[in-house]
Amino acid sequence: MKATAVAPANIAFIKYWGKKDENLRLPENGSISMNLSNLHTTTAVEFSQYFTADSVEINKNKGEERRVINFINKIRKLAKISYKVKVISQNNFPTASGLASSASGFAALTLAATAAAGLHLSEKELSILARVGSGSACRSIPDGFVEWIEGNSNETSYAISLYTADYWDIVDIVVIVSEDEKDVSSTHGHEIATTSPFFQTRIAKIKEKIKKLKNFIKEKNFQKFGELIEAEALELHTIMLTSTPSLIYWHPATIKIMKEVKKLRQKDLPVYFTIDAGPHLHLICQKENTDKIAIKLKQFREINKIIVNYAAVGARLI
Ligand code: DP6
Repeated sequence: MKATAVAPANIAFIKYWGKKDENLRLPENGSISMNLSNLHTTTAVEFSQYFTADSVEINKNKGEERRVINFINKIRKLAKISYKVKVISQNNFPTASGLASSASGFAALTLAATAAAGLHLSEKELSILARVGSGSACRSIPDGFVEWIEGNSNETSYAISLYTADYWDIVDIVVIVSEDEKDVSSTHGHEIATTSPFFQTRIAKIKEKIKKLKNFIKEKNFQKFGELIEAEALELHTIMLTSTPSLIYWHPATIKIMKEVKKLRQKDLPVYFTIDAGPHLHLICQKENTDKIAIKLKQFREINKIIVNYAAVGARLI
């Protein structure tokens, strides 16, 4: 009973931040993302009556074992099996870079583990299950441009594909500005989101924002799209900065690149940034401007690495 799956990371244009149910990972709001072609996790899962203990290997280390085994237990229960498991998972991006890997990790684990356990789940069922592992992972199951429908129960909170990967050739240049692991996990960040005095204002306006963004994607209006996602990222970080305790994910280099992005726009190079729970930036641009932007970034000593991504398909068995 063995299966292997590969799943992409995704970048959220409208962010998931805050949960109305921590165990089920029901989000406070819906979100919208794009799967990334060059950041992915490959996971092999095997259940066997001959294994005497569960084993988990992530990027050649024993890591996050508890969270993975808790998740595997849910799958064993669904499949009504009790065999021990062997999980081997590998990211194609540098582990210590602080780039989020829980989305690609739990999406690949969901698909590989359910297949290995002999379960045949629909895309919706896979997305629901992946969500319980890590919220953002539910968006790495469907293809291309994805919406996570907020929902209000386990069955109603899952992600769907809005458009396939070839719909719009926008690019995400991931800019890695530090080799450090991030200091506060996003899971903890979600828990304190509501302590920000601005959180309820965000929630009151977010449905309207999602509607607007979906329209800009539909019209392929890159400027309006870019303006909205950059403002959304700054709003997310406003919530983080004003939580108790405060969360400051940015490094000096993060701000330097944010300013450079604004400068590039003044020089008529359309590019916008978005940032998750870490110091790295995602620069969103149109395909034809990728090289011009990459060359401009070369002057910054603070940048460790850039990774160019296109929109990608969701999780697949291989
Ligand atoms: C800032 O999905 O990592 O990247 O559900 O606790 O595993 P858990 O959180 P996670 O949170 C991601 C937060 C974010 C925004 C986003 O991807 O929408």
